[in-house]
Amino acid sequence: MAQAKILIADDDTLVREAVYKILTMFGHTVVPCASGEEAITALTSEFDLIILDINMPGMDGFETLKLINDRNYGIPVIFLTGAGSMEYAVKAINLGAYDFIPKPIEDLDIFNIKVKRAIEKRMYVLQEKAYKENLEVEVRNKTRELAEKNRLLEEYNENLEISTLNTMLTLQTALEEKDMYTAGHTTRVTLHAMSIGQALRLGAEEMTVLERACKVHDIGKLVVDVNYIRKPGPLSEEEWLLMKKHPEIGANIIKPLAFMQQEIFIVRHHHERMDGTGYPDGLGGNELNLLTKIITVADSYDAMTSKRIYKQNLEVKEAIAELQRCAGSQFDPEVVQVFVEVLEGQGKMGTR
Ligand SMILES: [Fe+2]
Repeated sequence: MAQAKILIADDDTLVREAVYKILTMFGHTVVPCASGEEAITALTSEFDLIILDINMPGMDGFETLKLINDRNYGIPVIFLTGAGSMEYAVKAINLGAYDFIPKPIEDLDIFNIKVKRAIEKRMYVLQEKAYKENLEVEVRNKTRELAEKNRLLEEYNENLEISTLNTMLTLQTALEEKDMYTAGHTTRVTLHAMSIGQALRLGAEEMTVLERACKVHDIGKLVVDVNYIRKPGPLSEEEWLLMKKHPEIGANIIKPLAFMQQEIFIVRHHHERMDGTGYPDGLGGNELNLLTKIITVADSYDAMTSKRIYKQNLEVKEAIAELQRCAGSQFDPEVVQVFVEVLEGQGKMGTR
């Protein structure tokens, strides 16, 4: 039998000493007490078993048990009950005692078995507690580890997204810089679109999508012969057909990027019109989402107000008039209205 630390409380010196002797003989460490009060004072979580007399002067066994239960140590309690006090035994069990042993102790074997069983129960409880605690610590550690790994992964992912986007932007800018007339187009479209988005109080996620879509909206032009873009005068029909492919090509370029899935639609449809006569798919009205409608307005406005070799640029107020004229047919009227308010707020009405 495992060696245990046992607390005994009995006011009867003879019983106390007899129990003490038996238990120490089995190698247990025993702390004898002459009253319930003494037992409560001596009680710590180190004990494996408590043996309690019921009838004691001062605090009786039941009151002592109550205080023991309050400590919540989970130590089993065995009651010593005088002969013929069966109801005491029942009450003791109901109050949460583990077992009872009749006094005087006549059958040593039964006494030993009961003590042994109680100690085993205590060992089991302690093991279970330790196991649970270890498990909790382990789960906590693993959770922390996982959260850290997740954070690193997110950071890595974000960096990857940013550098991919930057690479595309660099290519786009290089393309635009080849032609002084288109230089800065993407940057300006992005700024206009972001102002509209802000005025419409878009959420952070929508703003991110809008910004990314703006930055890559003309990326498909990388594939179109740059001579067309720089060509003075109108394009031939063949050149124009190829030029009109840039939204589709752009959408295909960003298609493999998992983080740009929402932007694919916007890039593909940034030359569609509200009346469904745009390209490449002739979508219109509600088939176009708000972010696409915003880019369309920002993109067209910049085209109107930038110089091209083959055309004069419009003044801001002329461009606004053009946006308003085409509201409903080419552009979403609400987006146009918001953008006009933004431009007015920026005090650009009288400028070129
Ligand atoms: Fe475009």
